[in-house]
Amino acid sequence: MSLLDKINRESLPQHVAIIMDGNGRWAKQQGKERFEGHAAGVSSVRLIVEAATELKISHLTMYTFSTENWNRPEEEIKALMSLLVQAIAKETADLIKNNVRLKTIGDLSRLPDEARKVLEQCIEDTSASTGVTLVLALSYSARWEITEAAKKISSRVLANELQIGDITEKTISDNLSTAGIPDPDLLIRTGGECRISNYLLWQVAYSELYFTDTLWPDFGKEELYAAILDYQNRERRFGKTSEQVKK
Ligand code: IPE
Ligand code: IPE
Ligand code: MG
Repeated sequence: MSLLDKINRESLPQHVAIIMDGNGRWAKQQGKERFEGHAAGVSSVRLIVEAATELKISHLTMYTFSTENWNRPEEEIKALMSLLVQAIAKETADLIKNNVRLKTIGDLSRLPDEARKVLEQCIEDTSASTGVTLVLALSYSARWEITEAAKKISSRVLANELQIGDITEKTISDNLSTAGIPDPDLLIRTGGECRISNYLLWQVAYSELYFTDTLWPDFGKEELYAAILDYQNRERRFGKTSEQVKK
């Protein structure tokens, strides 16, 4: 029996964010090169997007390449970028067919021209999709994003378009690259580490966190269902008492 049958369709997370970690260790376990782990990881992305489509989850945000990942060996960065170009070019038709809309967050200006081009094309080609919004975090870190928001907001104050007293939490949210996207309900990290690694720091303020030892290339639909079932057994209190939220 699939865990899918146990999922309550009435209380699904609307937005699932994932830190896809463990590709390198998976490759090592298999006696393969690190880039082969990343290539295997692409298959997991495919499966999870498919599962999200089937479940009608509205947003999926995948940590694909962090600001800090620019410090990896040049060879690995190159392999990751060419994998990205290949995967986007290969998957665009299926994304359209499955009604998936692609978005990105992060500093795309640091990406190689070819990667940026193929992403922009895919974003345009999938812009009419109304199903899952797939957000790839690329050259992304939350501190970069919050710094950019601080710059945008302060320049509006300097231009007298905004008063300091009018700055609210919504002003901050609206100036992040995730503006308009609901905060993640569930954050999953694969690969066994229990850390956030500079991901969506503002947005995960009240997300349910799920850490699993499963390495990303081994993470498939059943593993996602297990994470969702775990989420559905949590009581989200948002600061209130248990009695209050049960009402
Ligand atoms: C995650 O897998 C993919 C990226 C960060 C790009 P890793 O490459 O970090 O895999 P491990 O952590 O070395 O196993
Ligand atoms: C986080 O994984 C970034 C991505 C999954 C893209 P890392 O493997 O880079 O995280 P740390 O450095 O071990 O925290
Ligand atoms: Mg890692």
